[in-house]
Amino acid sequence: MFEKQHKALLQWYDVCGRKHLPWRNLGFVNGSYGVYISEIMLQQTQVSSVLGYYERFLQRFPTLHSLSLASEDEVLVLWAGLGYYSRAKNLLKTAKILKEALPNTKEALLKLPGIGEYTAGAILCFGFGQSVAFFDTNIKRFLMRFFALQNPKEKQLQEFAQKFLNTKDSFNHNQALLDLGALVCIASNPRCNICPLYDFCQGKNEISKHTLKKQISYEQIQMHLGIFEQNGRVAMLRDEKWNHLFSFPEISPKDRQAFATLKHTRTKYKIQVLLYHLSAQPTDTQMIEKDSEKYPMSSLSLKVLKVLEKKSLENLSF
Ligand code: ADE
Repeated sequence: MFEKQHKALLQWYDVCGRKHLPWRNLGFVNGSYGVYISEIMLQQTQVSSVLGYYERFLQRFPTLHSLSLASEDEVLVLWAGLGYYSRAKNLLKTAKILKEALPNTKEALLKLPGIGEYTAGAILCFGFGQSVAFFDTNIKRFLMRFFALQNPKEKQLQEFAQKFLNTKDSFNHNQALLDLGALVCIASNPRCNICPLYDFCQGKNEISKHTLKKQISYEQIQMHLGIFEQNGRVAMLRDEKWNHLFSFPEISPKDRQAFATLKHTRTKYKIQVLLYHLSAQPTDTQMIEKDSEKYPMSSLSLKVLKVLEKKSLENLSF
C-alpha cells in the first residue's frame, strides 16, 4: 500500500529535503542523545534558530552523562534566547534520572520529564532506527489534508500516520514528512504546485476545510523596565515570572521618559517594552556584569542588553 506515494515522497526528499541537518546524520549507535536534544530544541522553535544552540549544547555536553553532571544555571546559560525554558530544566531532570543512556521503549520514554508522544516517537525512530509513526503539528496538517480529515481525534491521526508509514525506510519517511509540512504543505498558502504528493492528495480541492484553526490569538501588552547601570554593571533580579532567569525590574512609568523601546513576543503576548533610566538601584536587585555566558538571562534580557550595548557605542562615537 502507498508504494507510489512513498517513492514520490522519498524522491522529493532526496532533492529538496534538509538531509544535511546535523541531527539527521548521527547514526543509531550513539545518536539517540543528539536526536533527543534536537527534538526538544525544535519544539515551538524554527530550525534556523536551533542550529547554533544545538552545536554549542553538544560541544559543552556531548553525552547524556556529561549533561547529568551539570548545574541548572549552566544549562540555562546555553539555552538563553531559545525560550520555553522548562524544556531545558526538563532535559536536565531527565539526564539526572537516567545518567547514562536513553531507554529505547515508548513506555519508558513517556515516563521521563518533558517527553510526550511525539518526542518519544521521534527518539525511537530517529535515534534508535525503530519503525514507528508519530506526528507533530506539521505532520498533523499534512495528514489532515492528504486524507481529507476534519477535526480528527489524536487516536485517529495516529492510525493514519501508522497506515501511511513507510516501514522500509521510516527514518527518511518521517524526516521527509517533517520537511514537507515545514516547506510545502504549510499552514497558509500551501505550495500544492510543487508538492510531490499532489496527485494523491484527497484534500487538495478544499484545503481550508482540512486545516487546523490558528490557535494563538495574541494579546498586545506594554511592559516598563527600569535600567540602573553603574561601573559596567546592571541591576537585575531572578524573577519567578521569568523562570528565575536574570531579568530587569518592572517599574511604574509615572511621568518618566523612555530612552528606548523594543518588541518582544512571549507565549501569547506581543509586548511593547519601554526602557527607563533609574537613578538608584531598586532594592530587590543585584548588580551583575553584562555577561550572558555567566548569568542565565531571559530572551528579553538578552535583547535589552543588546540595546544597552548599542546605546553605549552610540554615545562613545560622539
Ligand atoms: N522539527 C521537529 N523535528 C524535526 C527534525 N527532526 N528536523 C527538522 N525539523 C524538525
